[in-house]
Amino acid sequence: MSDARKVHIKSFGCQMNVYDARRMADTLARDGYAETAHAEEADLIILNTCHIREKAVEKVYSELGRLREMRAEAETRGRSQMIAVAGCVAQAEGKEIIRRAPSVRLVVGPQNIHRISELVARANNGEAVVDTEFAVEDKFEQLAAPKPEATRARGISAFVTVQEGCDKFCTFCVVPYTRGNEASRSVERILRETQTLLSQGVKEITLIGQNVNAYHGKGPEGRDWTLPRLIARLAEMPELLRIRYTTSHPRDMDDELIEAHRDIEKLMPFLHLPVQSGSDRILDEMNRKHTRAEYLKIIERARKARPDMAFSSDFIVGFPGETDQDFEDTLSLAREVGYAQCFTFKYSPRPGTPAADFGAQVPEEIKSERLYRLQELIEAQQHAFNLSCVGRELDVLFEKPGRHEGQIVGRSPYLQPVPVIAPSSIIGSVARVRVNELRTYSLIGELVAQPQISPTNNSAAEVNAFA
Ligand code: 5AD
Ligand code: SF4
Repeated sequence: MSDARKVHIKSFGCQMNVYDARRMADTLARDGYAETAHAEEADLIILNTCHIREKAVEKVYSELGRLREMRAEAETRGRSQMIAVAGCVAQAEGKEIIRRAPSVRLVVGPQNIHRISELVARANNGEAVVDTEFAVEDKFEQLAAPKPEATRARGISAFVTVQEGCDKFCTFCVVPYTRGNEASRSVERILRETQTLLSQGVKEITLIGQNVNAYHGKGPEGRDWTLPRLIARLAEMPELLRIRYTTSHPRDMDDELIEAHRDIEKLMPFLHLPVQSGSDRILDEMNRKHTRAEYLKIIERARKARPDMAFSSDFIVGFPGETDQDFEDTLSLAREVGYAQCFTFKYSPRPGTPAADFGAQVPEEIKSERLYRLQELIEAQQHAFNLSCVGRELDVLFEKPGRHEGQIVGRSPYLQPVPVIAPSSIIGSVARVRVNELRTYSLIGELVAQPQISPTNNSAAEVNAFA
């Protein structure tokens, strides 16, 4: 057993949680906690939970039951383990978690993880700590001193949070309640965090936020910047090869952002734009604040700006009151768009959200059948899209060694894995690949040219540009 304390973070749910887990690990590293992939050997175990879908809460309690047994077993070996719950279930359940699972000593909501060091220290001193309070006014504080920034990169591609929370209040969604109202980080902080990541070898960043295209962070001159303006600024950083953003809301997909896809080469031609349903009646009940026609118009404008643009979406089937015809409208919308990939969900009532109290909840068997039919369609579309890449030349950003000797794996602009035979020095650069074959979800190909941009060292100048 080594002396260093160890933390194991198990994360569920969205990219925001992945990001939060990394920030917690980075912060705790400063307190001497090394990260471990094995819960058994950890001194601190953090469940970073997701509340978005069905039975989320019960799943957390059953996971906690398993951890309690593991903890008892560790104790017999003389190791004491502390269990913490973070994320959106922590936010929603609060002290109820400690009441139902007394082995948990710390409950921390997503708005409060910047205090994780202090909270862990208090819990280590024997206190049962619950920190889920955040006030609307705190948002302004958080903008000045938000979540811990990334201090360590883990590879070629990294997430950078640019905004959090949501004011849209879709009637099915817990996010406005668990993540609070919409708030954007300042341009300066985002540039600084990106620069830190770039200096550690990152080449691609994905700007993340629940409503990323509602971004309106303070710029260095004191006025708010839009997402496309931020992207244009980031694109000036020479070491940064690729920029992505997720998740967008159709309401905030304006001309400036669409034009950024036309004008900024580093911005990848892949747009995750959830529509949820193809029926105007259901979109209205969902409070999505856009129609089917408006959504399709955005897709058309984006394709015009960037003909090689591909799309993905989230869909919910079985929303309360969804008829066969509403569902057919969803299928026809998907056929009209032709997606490269999608996430599909059965509606699940989230306590506290308006739709949970709507009448006409759809029976489980109908939800399952609709989900199956939609997934069948989406899988066929994904396969067709992947096949359409065979015979094409695509730019690939190489990330790591592949499974086979001599193989390096990268990603296409559409996030498909692309393994090729190449020297390991290619990692971190973009090179053109001729795609010869589709194998499951991977594009098999060969290099057609030397890397376009070789990895360069960083200049400190960028860091200070806005400091
Ligand atoms: N039921 C089913 N799916 C949901 N999502 C959000 N809330 C619910 C819910 N109550 C899905 C939406 C969202 C994605 C992140 O999760 O499709 O875009
Ligand atoms: Fe949830 Fe709707 Fe906000 Fe997305 S836009 S986070 S689905 S409330």
